[in-house]
Amino acid sequence: HNGKINIAIDGPAGAGKSTVARMVAKALSYVYVDTGAMYRAVTWYMIKQGIKPEQVDLVLEKAKELNIELVPEETGQRVFLNGQDVTHEIRSIEVNGLVSRYAKIEGLRKMLVQMQRQMALRKGVVMDGRDIGTTVLPQAEVKIFMTATVKERALRRFKEMKDAEGITLEQLEHDIAERDRQDEQREISPLRRADDAIVLDTTRLTIDEVVDRIVSYCTIHMDGEK
Ligand code: CDP
Ligand code: CDP
Repeated sequence: HNGKINIAIDGPAGAGKSTVARMVAKALSYVYVDTGAMYRAVTWYMIKQGIKPEQVDLVLEKAKELNIELVPEETGQRVFLNGQDVTHEIRSIEVNGLVSRYAKIEGLRKMLVQMQRQMALRKGVVMDGRDIGTTVLPQAEVKIFMTATVKERALRRFKEMKDAEGITLEQLEHDIAERDRQDEQREISPLRRADDAIVLDTTRLTIDEVVDRIVSYCTIHMDGEK
């Protein structure tokens, strides 16, 4: 084995998972895998095809035709769906509003989880999502459960939007709380802290502080293995 470990980062929307996971991956020369982008890509496709989340059989049938690729690049990751670049499309408000309803479909989760495990086989992966520490990579050497207050998380997303989309801070807070509720209460792999995950409340931490802490947990782990 190559001395590398796997790092699982879970938590609610806007906690800072993807920003931090990408930076941790860069610091360690690891590969970043954004599993939320995979659920988003499927959601974008189903909306485009006019298939509703209640049409479970149809969703599963169509999902089999999908080829999702995550391609790392300097500033993050590009997402391709059957060869089409959908990196920006999958971040729309419409996708935000529906993704959790597709993400609770058991057969769809099975397909994506299998792909995610495949990506982590060779280790050296930083993977973020909702069920990474509990379900996708329960053997990950370092597990982080990242949180922040819903107010702070909504504010972070609000600042990202540069008011182009005409959505208010209150609306954003409501949408995020609703998505958290759906992710926490679904039957299959709900958003939950793994028993052995380290909880990191980032409400009052800068991005660099969060990255430093996670990198040091990893270093401690790797030194312990030597
Ligand atoms: O970036 P943000 O926190 O807004 O969300 P995301 O990580 O892109 O995930 C979007 C949605 O996909 C989540 O709200 C979940 O419903 C679903 N998801 C999931 O069920 N399991 C994962 N491992 C990752 C995302
Ligand atoms: O992936 P997730 O939904 O958990 O969150 P994100 O998209 O990585 O982070 C949401 C926003 O919060 C980004 O604009 C980050 O720059 C910001 N952020 C922050 O201000 N302070 C932190 N400690 C972490 C993230």
